[in-house]
Parts: sequence; C-alpha cells; structure tokens
Amino acid sequence: MSSNKGRKLVPANIDELKPYVPGKTIAEVVEAYHPAKISKLASNENRLGHSSKVDEAVNEALKTVSDYPDPVANKLKASISEKTGIGSNRIMVASGSESLLAILCRTFFQNKENLITADATFIGMFVQAKIRGVHMKQIPVTKDYRFDVKAMVNAIDEHTKMIYIANPNNPTGTYITKEEYEWMMEQVPEDVLVIMDEAYFEFTDTVSDYPDVLSYDHKNVIVLRTFSKAYGLAGFRIGYAIAREEIIQYMLKTKLTFEPGALAQAAAIASFDDEAFLNESRNVVRSGKERLYKFFDEQNIKYIRSAANFVMICLDTEEEAIYITQKMLEKGVILRRINAFGLPNCIRITIGLSHELDHFEQSFLEVINT
Ligand SMILES: Cc1ncc(COP(=O)(O)O)c(C=O)c1O
Repeated sequence: MSSNKGRKLVPANIDELKPYVPGKTIAEVVEAYHPAKISKLASNENRLGHSSKVDEAVNEALKTVSDYPDPVANKLKASISEKTGIGSNRIMVASGSESLLAILCRTFFQNKENLITADATFIGMFVQAKIRGVHMKQIPVTKDYRFDVKAMVNAIDEHTKMIYIANPNNPTGTYITKEEYEWMMEQVPEDVLVIMDEAYFEFTDTVSDYPDVLSYDHKNVIVLRTFSKAYGLAGFRIGYAIAREEIIQYMLKTKLTFEPGALAQAAAIASFDDEAFLNESRNVVRSGKERLYKFFDEQNIKYIRSAANFVMICLDTEEEAIYITQKMLEKGVILRRINAFGLPNCIRITIGLSHELDHFEQSFLEVINT
C-alpha cells in the first residue's frame, strides 16, 4: 500500500480560511469588565427582540418536532408569495441567507468561473466562495464607501458567473440606487447571475431611490432576504431566495434536505403576520439613526448615512478604532470593529433601543474625552 505521508489533510483553500471570530458574548463581557449595564450593538440583530406571535406558533410547532420538517416549506412559501406577489415556484427557503450563499456557491460554479463583488462587503460571501474554491474579483468600494457598479461591470470577463451585491451593504450601510441597478442590468450578460442580497430590505423604506428588484423581469437575478434582521429571528436561521423557476430548481438540488427546521418555519410564518412589530422595528431603527447622526455631527465624527439597521463610523486611524472599541467594551457597549471587512479604521454600530443609545452616547463621550 502506498503511503499518505506528505499529503495535506485539507485542500489549500480550506487551510487558508480564517476561523470566524465571534464578538464577545454578554457573559464574557460581564465576567471580564463587570460593567453596570450591557448594550450589545455588534451584530445587527433586532434590539426589540421578536414578535410575540412567534412564541405561540413555536410552542404549537414543538408538539410535532419529532417529525421531520416540510423540506420545501410550502406554508411559508405561500406566505412569502402572498407578501411579495411572486409565485411559490420562484421561491425557496433555507437556513438563513448565509446558507443560501453556500447553496449558490455549490450549485453554479464550474472550473475557472469567477465571482465579482466589492472588497468591503459581507464576509459570509467571501467565506462561501473560498470554501468552494471560487476565484473572487473584489472591486474596491468608492471613496464614499459605495459599490462601484461601473468598475464591477468592467470586471466582467468570459469566466464571470456571478455578481454579488449586498443592498444595503454590510458593513457600510450604503446601497445601489434604482438608476445604478437599471444601468447595471442593461450591461450584464444574461448568463451572469446577479445576487441581490437584501438582508436589510425592510429598513429601506427611508430611501426613495432604492430599487424594487422584484418588479423587474430580469431572468438572471436572485434576490436573498432573511428573517434575521427586521423580524428578529436570527437565532432560528431562516431566509429565502427569489429567482426564476429553473434557478430555484437547481438550488433545491443542493440544499440540505430538511433545512430550515420546523420551529424556524413556524416562527417565520408567525412573524410575517405581525405588521405592528415590523413597523415598530422600523421606527426604532429610523429614529435611532437620526439620533446617532446628530450625535456624530456634534462630535465631529465621520459617519456614513445608512439604509440598514446600523451605522458605520470611520476614525482617522486603526489605532483609534481599536482603542474606542476596547474602551466601549469595558463600559459594556459591544461594538463591531470592521477590520475583517477591510476597513480597519471603521466601527459598525447596530441601532439599539433608546436606553442602549443613551448608554452608547454617554460611554462614547467618556471614552473620547479621556
Ligand atoms: C448582507 C448580509 N447578508 C446575509 C447575512 C446573514 O443573514 P442570515 O442570518 O440570514 O444568514 C447578513 C448578516 O449579518 C448580512 O449582513
């Protein structure tokens, strides 16, 4: 028998992946610094929690949790169809947008095909592409931290399979406009798939030129949405994709058969029924952003106006960003430095409830004035 000596356990693309470094948990922060109060503003979760209708639905679903879930989530798809006006045949449900990104990577890429995206965008896309060994063309964001749509279109070559746009983008909060979207779709060949990751879609009601992507008939567009943000169900892991039927059929072939779980499906259906909760979430985010813009204006801190549920600030140096994030942590305010997104001098702040923003502002003033 020949020896395996010298053979690597994993391929180079897996070896090169950096493990996900989660932000500190509330328990870890309490243990390390004993702050009087904790405000977790690091992960773009819904600080209001979730709709109370979810509790009842999940309790009911628990009764049959010994059965496998519906693998194609028919009930939930019917709700999504009703809400969006898109036929159920063009919808699929999976364990969050991240799972949908994984499905996209394992379904569509062949040989040398590449993916075009920005350098400062959702890391989950980079990770899934890397796992699949996909070559990525990461186009720098513009000076004002926006997707450079023209440069992305110019980067298309004969091997381009996919363009990924997070709209609004994480971590910048910026978005591509209706005009940019329409221009891009005129340029992009039909055999290049355009992924519009709309994880923060529900918060875009504040911007008038956000593209209503579902209203066009573009055959190569795949829209991703999630229940993790505005609906407050991040812990359940559930999201959906909308595309033409053929694309959905291919994606269904590589989805893990029974994702997402039955409780997640029940929770998502119930959360769709609670417009009041959704509106409250939107109001918290809208007024919280206005409040932070005013605060940062007063403090002369550079921020980027956001169409999502977070705001990015940019300091002069990386050292300043490290210092502020660490000192804020010691005061119990958990923020996200976004060095991993390629913006080492920036910090992302999830919009919290009013008492959390009090805590943020007070701590921030103490940190920058000492
Ligand atoms: C742009 C973007 N896409 C996808 C996700 C992941 O969402 P999900 O919880 O549905 O996997 C996030 C989460 O932060 C995100 O910011």
